[in-house]
Amino acid sequence: MADQAFVTLATNDSYAKGAMVLGKSLRAHKTSRKLVALIGPHVTEPARDVLQKIYDEVRLVDLLDSKDAAHLSLMKRPDLGVTFTKLHCWTLTHYSKCVFMDADTLVLSNVDELFNREELSAAPDPGWPDCFNSGVFVFRPSIETYGQLLQLCTESGSFDGGDQGVLNSFFSNWSTADITKHLPFIYNLSSIAIYSYLPAFKQYGSDAKVVHFLGKMKPWNYSYDATTKSVKGHSQDPSTLHPDYLLKWWHIYSGAVLPMMKEQYGSEHFYSGCEDSEEIHHGVSQIQVSPSPRPTVSSEERKQKWEQGQADYMGMDSFENIQRKLDSFLN
Ligand code: UDP
Ligand code: GLC
Ligand code: MN
Repeated sequence: MADQAFVTLATNDSYAKGAMVLGKSLRAHKTSRKLVALIGPHVTEPARDVLQKIYDEVRLVDLLDSKDAAHLSLMKRPDLGVTFTKLHCWTLTHYSKCVFMDADTLVLSNVDELFNREELSAAPDPGWPDCFNSGVFVFRPSIETYGQLLQLCTESGSFDGGDQGVLNSFFSNWSTADITKHLPFIYNLSSIAIYSYLPAFKQYGSDAKVVHFLGKMKPWNYSYDATTKSVKGHSQDPSTLHPDYLLKWWHIYSGAVLPMMKEQYGSEHFYSGCEDSEEIHHGVSQIQVSPSPRPTVSSEERKQKWEQGQADYMGMDSFENIQRKLDSFLN
């Protein structure tokens, strides 16, 4: 077990918060494996110190960047070139097998059984299921593989500008070769999938083991009211985060991570995202949807927006509303 590890990556303090919550969630579910965080040079000292307390190993790595503006803009994510840095995980050769997890993932139960899988095991990408999503994958560190991956990056680049494109080109027979390398979807459940197939989520969602906050909006982009234990959402926000999981993330962040950050930062100012974080109250947990003064949208307009991928996830089209509607059909 000592030669197996969960690995994540944070190149800045925002993703470092994600890594802290992920690490805490792995510990809370009593993983028997080591925890490794790869960090970039821009992660500040106090954040590194907090990571060091949660992770067994915090390793500073060089930033690798695809700087592939064309492909990244197709994906509307100019920020993801730096995800090439993820490839450093293959250099962790003091481990025989690892599970990489994006810093925007959260475990809901013990997932140590993932180490029974072989390289390269991953779950289908919700957008293109013949590709795997590189937010959660099982791999074997190897300098040889690392070199081959870097070579592929320099020679052919990445079709999405990030690591997922390169990895799918490299492990190109993933979709057809070996079904045991297809992780069940519950090991990488993203909200985008929830909202595109709600009945499946209703049927299988309770089995979810790993939530992935895939997309532009991340849990740490919101703020949290510690008094009411509610995440402050914006109803116009076209985010794809599921309110229950978002609340889970904030619960761990405010309860287990923030106290460590406060201790580490001392009198130095930092952005916690938490309001009234000094006080612990036991209110009812809920997502607050700001009562928006906007004009009512007709049913047809709403349908059009939904089809254009602009669902009002935190408001009218919130999961709760949809579930209520589904229940009225199913019951
Ligand atoms: N990442 C990072 N810094 C960045 C962008 C990404 O450290 O500026 C790391 C982080 O571990 C993150 C992963 O790369 O979870 C993949 O990026 P992201 O999760 O934002 O992509 P998505 O899953 O939304 O496509
Ligand atoms: C994806 C994955 C993420 C990866 C990014 C860039 O959407 O979720 O892990 O870093 O694409 O390729
Ligand atoms: Mn991610």
